[in-house]
Amino acid sequence: MLTEDTRQAILELQNLYPVKRSALIPALHLAQAEAGYLPIDVQAEVAALFDLDPSEVNAVVTFYDMFFEEPTGKHQIHVCKNVSCMLRGADGVMLKLCEKLQISPGQTTEDGQFTVIASECLAACDRAPMMLVDDKVVGPVKDSEIDQILEEAKKGPGHPSPVEKPEVHHA
Ligand code: FES
Repeated sequence: MLTEDTRQAILELQNLYPVKRSALIPALHLAQAEAGYLPIDVQAEVAALFDLDPSEVNAVVTFYDMFFEEPTGKHQIHVCKNVSCMLRGADGVMLKLCEKLQISPGQTTEDGQFTVIASECLAACDRAPMMLVDDKVVGPVKDSEIDQILEEAKKGPGHPSPVEKPEVHHA
């Protein structure tokens, strides 16, 4: 269920556009910011606010890889796999990153800290091979920098994540 504040913010967003449907993507970002993902009941709630069929909202949610139907980790790492990045070593970067996190693309680490997503062009081809770490463009990425990139990411606020586990500190 969306909070009243989010519902209100979505209604206000709709007023910014001549056709309220144009506010759907920013509205979905607001809805996702609450829990970190968009379960089907939240999609239906958003659809009702837009007088849309839930299937129309679901089509948007499933088209864009910035929206998630399942919980993700606290930090999301989108690795671009498109041509410019691929030609400059994106496959190797993805391999190294997944090796370090011990997951495959599309998966979340055991501790809920990181989700890795293989993405289409993220519009930063001049930084190839690049990744989007939460909301930050990082690149050109060298394999040797991956540890540092992960450490830096951990310092950021990330996204709300129902699967994140508290960090265990050993004395
Ligand atoms: S091809 Fe990777 S950002 Fe465009």
